[in-house]
Amino acid sequence: MKNIVLFGPPGAGKGTQSERLIEKYKLIHLSTGDILRAERKAGTTLGKKANEYIEKGELVPDEVVIGMVANKINENLNAIGFIFDGFPRTTAQGEALDEMLNKLGHPITKMIALEVDEDELTKRLLLRGETSGRADDQDEATIRNRFKVYNNETLPLKDYYDAQGKYLGVNGMNRIETVFGDLCKILD
Ligand code: C5P
Ligand code: MG
Repeated sequence: MKNIVLFGPPGAGKGTQSERLIEKYKLIHLSTGDILRAERKAGTTLGKKANEYIEKGELVPDEVVIGMVANKINENLNAIGFIFDGFPRTTAQGEALDEMLNKLGHPITKMIALEVDEDELTKRLLLRGETSGRADDQDEATIRNRFKVYNNETLPLKDYYDAQGKYLGVNGMNRIETVFGDLCKILD
């Protein structure tokens, strides 16, 4: 299995690149943000609860997202591999993911971080907010909180994967096609 963590702040291009990568490499796209938004749209209890966090730019509790990821992995045990997009978001989530994948004998292959500065990220998120309908992309205070949460809770995962020799950075400021080319070089 090729199991890739596509890492980076909100607006870095994780979703965009995941769409392309899954097509080329036939991997499963596991986006916890997409799953949470689908639950919200379906009006489930989980979706309603998750929305309270999403609209503030806070993180849904670890045990909730870890459970979602475990379900998705277990539904796809014959997959060629997964692209984890927007997960893990905390060191506890990273540890839980390692435990699940190690048990299956298919650990994370690489953690690839898309690096983009905050001015560019803010521009991208506000632009996306004009068409995505995502309230968390339309409000600058929420966007700032998402960066804060990312820097405090998520960024420590860089060291976590680096310590395993799995961390790689890619310049996410480049054009979509260029970034995709850089990612393919790593995956091939
Ligand atoms: O990954 P994405 O940016 O689509 O996530 C949108 C929102 O969903 C996050 O700001 C957060 O509120 C929630 N989320 C979360 N935990 C995750 C993934 C997403 O709380 N692992
Ligand atoms: Mg996304």
